[in-house]
Amino acid sequence: MQSLPPQLRILDHPLIQHKVSYLRCRSTTKKQFRELLEEVSLLMAYEVTRELPLEPVEVETPLERTTAYRIRGKKLVVVPILRAGLGMVDGIMRLVPGARVGHVGLFRDEERLEPVEYYFKIPAAPADREFIVVDPMLATGGSAAAAVQLLKDRGAVNLRFMCLVAAPEGVEVFREAHPEIPLYTAALDRELDERGYILPGLGDAGDRLFGTR
Ligand code: PRP
Ligand code: URA
Repeated sequence: MQSLPPQLRILDHPLIQHKVSYLRCRSTTKKQFRELLEEVSLLMAYEVTRELPLEPVEVETPLERTTAYRIRGKKLVVVPILRAGLGMVDGIMRLVPGARVGHVGLFRDEERLEPVEYYFKIPAAPADREFIVVDPMLATGGSAAAAVQLLKDRGAVNLRFMCLVAAPEGVEVFREAHPEIPLYTAALDRELDERGYILPGLGDAGDRLFGTR
């Protein structure tokens, strides 16, 4: 990648980086991996929600009436890309307990490395909501770009994408498909290998999370 696209935000908070270092370790157990992914997702969500729109509300303090601020509009929607995105939901929900959850089921065809859709369910009135699409890995970018496109096709307009580790190839694919959508990652890694795995990466996030290999 020549230069970083303006939509890309690398979250370099020390606590996030510290936890990502343990997520990368092959010796990290499944239990630890699950807990760390939840913790790092909470920390990332704090940054990802920084620019949510606010609206003024009038409240009575014990002393007087004042103007305070609340997040505007309908409830935020967190959309994990199944399966591995599920590991990021609880951390975000701890920060935004009222959020709704949509689900997009995609798996990567291992031959062609292209996303295949198998499930889609989101709350009503997508045009009025803010969406955070989550997946730990942005590899070729096919799954992230497809998930965002599916949401746009159903009327969603306010979208953000949040991942843990991104490959330059995936950032480029995402930029070409959705240049206006903010893309947050904790790490921008070196490259993809011939099987489409991120190097150095952290391996297969779904398998590490669910113990399927
Ligand atoms: C992984 C990962 C992303 C996708 C990234 O999921 O969680 O969804 O691959 O790859 P891409 O950027 O090249 O599309 P996978 O398809 O392995 O499914 P899983 O989460 O069910 O394991
Ligand atoms: N999906 C993963 O889980 N890991 C990778 O490195 C690439 C795709």
